[in-house]
Amino acid sequence: MRIEENRSDVKVKVSNESKRKRRQKKVSPVQRLYNTCKEVFADCGPDIVPSPEKIQTLVAVLDKISQADVDLRPNMLFFDGNRAPIITYLQLHECDKFSIGIFCLPPSSVIPLHNHPGMTVFSKLLFGTMHIKSYDWLDTKDKGDANPDGVAPVANHSNSYPDGLRPAKLKVNSEFTAHCSTSVLYPTDGGNMHCFTAKTACAVLDVLGPPYCDPEGRHCQYYFDYPLTDFPVDGVPVPDEEKDGYAWLKERENPEDLVLLGAPYDGPKITET
Ligand SMILES: [Fe+2]
Repeated sequence: MRIEENRSDVKVKVSNESKRKRRQKKVSPVQRLYNTCKEVFADCGPDIVPSPEKIQTLVAVLDKISQADVDLRPNMLFFDGNRAPIITYLQLHECDKFSIGIFCLPPSSVIPLHNHPGMTVFSKLLFGTMHIKSYDWLDTKDKGDANPDGVAPVANHSNSYPDGLRPAKLKVNSEFTAHCSTSVLYPTDGGNMHCFTAKTACAVLDVLGPPYCDPEGRHCQYYFDYPLTDFPVDGVPVPDEEKDGYAWLKERENPEDLVLLGAPYDGPKITET
């Protein structure tokens, strides 16, 4: 009798365990992404970058997400190249720590050069081919530090540069085709200012930590870029033979030809916890 009772207990435990495992297996990829972001950005804020381990964890989750996981296909209206080059943003989640969203770009559409102040940004190309050009400031670090490329930084000469220009180092200038690995940019490295040009219909899943926030000074600023040789380079410590790897950036108004619309996200929902 006792044994039978024990067997019954075991059956109940096994049953509960299998149910628990089934529930775990049912966590959708976007829910897993949200759960991971909650952990990764828990102790972060402006200019506070997650640890390398946490960054790798989030990259691994993003690397596994596909277009099917967010119910997107290149033949959807968002990506129709026959209408005006309207870029659509589907927001999956936003809180004060992070945001998750998808940019849907029809062929030939462009998100002009813009910054991500104080943010760490993860970008996963879900499908398509995209050209990415990105820069980091040459003068963001304290005097005496060397940047990761070993170039001595200049002091903040912003008042002495011509006509509101500021020197930047070219970080990326290449085409990427899905499925490529998730890219990460940081507040002062990794190409914090970038420009996206869709070579085909593209979808980009973006995670921002923290999100843009005008009241907190995290405003999306757009820029023009000019060859370094277009203006005097006094005080910019770049050897002549490397000048192609640098540019002047200049702030601009929000581009009038950029049409960026929000639309409801209709894929698997996130349960906020
Ligand atoms: Fe961006």
